[in-house]
Amino acid sequence: MHRILVLDDIAQEGIDILEAEANIEYEVRTGLSGEALRSALNEFDGAILRSGVKITAESLEGNTRMRALVRAGVGTDNIDKAASTRRGIVVMNTPAGNTVSTAEHAFALMLALSRNIPAASQSLVEGRWDRKKFMGKQVAGKTLGIVGMGRIGREIASRAIAFEMNVIAFDPFLTDEQAAAIGVNRVATVDEMLPQIDYLTVHTPLTPETKGLIGHAQLEKVKPGLRVVNAARGGIYDINALVEGLNSGKLGGVALDVYEKEPCTDNPLFGMPNVVCTPHLGASTEEAQTQVAVEGIHLLIKYLKTGEIRHS
Ligand code: MLT
Repeated sequence: MHRILVLDDIAQEGIDILEAEANIEYEVRTGLSGEALRSALNEFDGAILRSGVKITAESLEGNTRMRALVRAGVGTDNIDKAASTRRGIVVMNTPAGNTVSTAEHAFALMLALSRNIPAASQSLVEGRWDRKKFMGKQVAGKTLGIVGMGRIGREIASRAIAFEMNVIAFDPFLTDEQAAAIGVNRVATVDEMLPQIDYLTVHTPLTPETKGLIGHAQLEKVKPGLRVVNAARGGIYDINALVEGLNSGKLGGVALDVYEKEPCTDNPLFGMPNVVCTPHLGASTEEAQTQVAVEGIHLLIKYLKTGEIRHS
């Protein structure tokens, strides 16, 4: 009998698979941390999680049982992979399940910024009929810069093209041929795109190379009025630079779905004009959550029963 621990709320469709599967026992224990997490992890052969729980080296201290950790989602940054590997624990993710939902959310943030939707809605519910204040900008004919042309970046590009935007993309792995096939213009550096774009969206993981990728020095190079979006990982933009950019008028708007520390209820950008913020909702659709839960549970069961590893 293989024992599986469900550490975060996942879609019912994933739980249904666990219910139906022979030789699998499972338990749902959410909100664990510290000693409770450490001891729970040692009672199970595999675990599935989203981003609500942090698996640190301490969480795995003394673990002799756990064999696989599956992230129902893309980013495995809440799992200490080096510590897992040292203990022979395989870490897998579900890289495709929430691609479209995240791309749609980033695009929605861009449109919300362009048409002042959250502020206009708030103003109306507060009793004001203020049409002049919320003059917007069309996205058609504007230029969008995309940093990171993986699955999500490419979905953004196809949506932007459908909205009649010009797209400039930076990704060290993107070839000229791929760029041409997608319909975007490739640049060799982020700096090269900055003076040309009206909107910027980033779709990279947070790594030492991408941390603070857009900071004070980069904002010196942008076209005034640039609107920026982050639905990838907090820390890719330097928050102080964004605040300064908004105050100086260099930036026309900032939309964030992700933060350096989450949960985040306190950020210097919250409440500033021309800022739209959501609480890490990129993958929060019924469709994406069903897909990542089902895919993640299948990965875990397959590994425990056959040793097959995918997306590690
Ligand atoms: C991911 O990495 O899959 C997304 O950011 C969504 C999430 O953290 O749940």
